[in-house]
Amino acid sequence: MEFKKAAVIGGAGTMGSGIVQTIAQAGIQVLLFETNLEVAQKGKTKLDKVVQKLVDKGKVSAQDKQNMLDKIILCDNYQAMADVDLVIEAVFENIQLKKEIFKQLDEIVKPEAILASNTSALSLTEIASATKRPDKVIGLHFFNPVPVMKLVELVMGLATSEETYQASAAFCEQIGKKVIKAKDTTGFLVNYLQIPLLNGAVAAYEAGLSSAEDIDKACVLGMNHPIGPLALLDLIGLDTALDVFNVMYEGTGDMKFWPRTVHKRLVQAGHLGRKTGKGFFTYN
Ligand SMILES: NC(=O)c1ccc[n+]([C@@H]2O[C@H](COP(=O)([O-])OP(=O)(O)OC[C@H]3O[C@@H](n4cnc5c(N)ncnc54)[C@H](O)[C@@H]3O)[C@@H](O)[C@H]2O)c1
Repeated sequence: MEFKKAAVIGGAGTMGSGIVQTIAQAGIQVLLFETNLEVAQKGKTKLDKVVQKLVDKGKVSAQDKQNMLDKIILCDNYQAMADVDLVIEAVFENIQLKKEIFKQLDEIVKPEAILASNTSALSLTEIASATKRPDKVIGLHFFNPVPVMKLVELVMGLATSEETYQASAAFCEQIGKKVIKAKDTTGFLVNYLQIPLLNGAVAAYEAGLSSAEDIDKACVLGMNHPIGPLALLDLIGLDTALDVFNVMYEGTGDMKFWPRTVHKRLVQAGHLGRKTGKGFFTYN
């Protein structure tokens, strides 16, 4: 299967914009979909700035930046996605919202196209149940920041076909990523491994075992992690992380995933991490 045109739903969000950038940089046309065209435009303007920084550092040529921007088409209606080969949904971690979106996509997007979700922990089988093509629904779980992180975790719903897996893996290679295959269990593989550490860091912070700086230093200097867990939570977005922790806790009943009060309070206060300038740390 050849991928000539893709679409990203929620293309101006934290993950969506990184996915749009990565696809466009690989020379594939991509529709940046948001329900509000102004939000979509803001997303493209943000991407322009992000890539301009790479031009200023000499990592990307001005021509390559222009080529990338030319591949991105702003979009606010489903009909425009009828002829795409692949849709990647990257909206909030909410099962009802994702199912509504997949139902609409299924009615409009050509039948041979693959419908993918970037969900961190929700069931692909349940998302696929909103469509009449569950064999063509798959999890394409990217990591943050998408242009930098090499991995995509491919998640197989109960009905996902091997053909869909192979085509999706080939697409990921085409945009410069490596893949792993995971079952449709709560949190799949990566979050099943990672969230106990992230939540453990929040628990340690809440219990006053050490400062936020020292908790992160312990992981960076003592365990050779590239970024500390609290800084990573700020990067993920504390709201998105809380949604994922809740899904993991509800799905497993395991206290390792139980969201801590301090985490909830930060979200209630609107301190969502990097995107709002404040989370466990403060940003300019
Ligand atoms: N943030 C991370 O580090 C991370 C990592 C891997 C996976 N994920 C997953 O990716 C998904 C998106 O997370 P995020 O952090 O990018 O969220 P975000 O809040 O940054 O972005 C969500 C985007 O979706 C848009 N949106 C909301 N409802 C929409 C609708 N009905 N139609 C179209 N667009 C809509 C919003 O305008 C926003 O641009 C979630 O499922 C999350 O679990 C997040």
